[in-house]
Amino acid sequence: MGDTESCLPEGICTRRRNIGIGIAVTVIIVVAVAVTVSMRTFKRGFIQRCEKFKGTDCEKIWGLFEEAYVGRDPSKVPVAAYGPLIAAAPFTPKCNQMLFWSDTKAVVRAFTKKRKCFVTLEDTLLGSVLDKQTWCGKEDSNETFATGCPGWDECETSAVRSFWNGASAAFADAACGDVTVMLNGAAATPFYDKSVFATIEVPRFYSPRVRSLNVVLVTKKNSVTSCENESLKDLQRKLDGGITYSCKAVPEAQINDCIPDPENACAVCW
Ligand SMILES: *[C@@H]1O[C@H](CO)[C@@H](O)[C@H](O)[C@H]1NC(C)=O
Ligand SMILES: *[C@@H]1O[C@H](CO)[C@@H](O)[C@H](O)[C@H]1NC(C)=O
Repeated sequence: MGDTESCLPEGICTRRRNIGIGIAVTVIIVVAVAVTVSMRTFKRGFIQRCEKFKGTDCEKIWGLFEEAYVGRDPSKVPVAAYGPLIAAAPFTPKCNQMLFWSDTKAVVRAFTKKRKCFVTLEDTLLGSVLDKQTWCGKEDSNETFATGCPGWDECETSAVRSFWNGASAAFADAACGDVTVMLNGAAATPFYDKSVFATIEVPRFYSPRVRSLNVVLVTKKNSVTSCENESLKDLQRKLDGGITYSCKAVPEAQINDCIPDPENACAVCW
């Protein structure tokens, strides 16, 4: 607010204050419109991506999605809140075709976009609808916000993180047969013990439902890590007994070169 003592004559001061209030009101309106537009864009995008999965009641899925976080503190959404959503769009097991990843998202996504035979969580209905999105609710509000929300790595129980934790668990629960994971051979510790793969997915692989876990260690020219790395020994120790383990170092360039080959959607590149 204007400092009346230092502004004379009165008229100028009053006018300044009005301009100030005018600007404040304009800013509030602009922000409110921007929030509403981003929220509408968010819902429209959600429904459009959902409708690619024929026969899905996308308004129902949206409703269950909203129920998980609307009206809640955006940093305190329990994983269980997404239970009804995940139950309505379950991950159907695709034995021998499920692909997990940790710190290798770009190459894995490029691979499954062409090789439709393989599925990552991000190729499923819920995974593809929410991939790369940010959302939350607010206490005392029944709206969805797509901006100003805590992101995946900012908070353990954010609206976003809890969804991915719940979805990753359900996706891993559906794993069966020969399971593949792409790990980053350019990282010092390819099996990172704080990763979603280590904390949520690996503990859900059970024998005999899961027959084998095959690590594809994606390497770059100057990669330092090999299949002999100690962290991968940890992975073997954590695996349920009875699951066969294998590891193969594969250059990223080899995978990228082989991706466009349309001949066999189910052929591997390693
Ligand atoms: C939010 O609440 C208002 C007022 O009760 C209501 O008119 C509106 O339809 C609600 N919006 C949603 C998305 O539920
Ligand atoms: C291999 O694994 C260990 C621990 O799991 C890690 O500390 C080490 O840096 C790793 N990488 C290389 C290149 O040795």
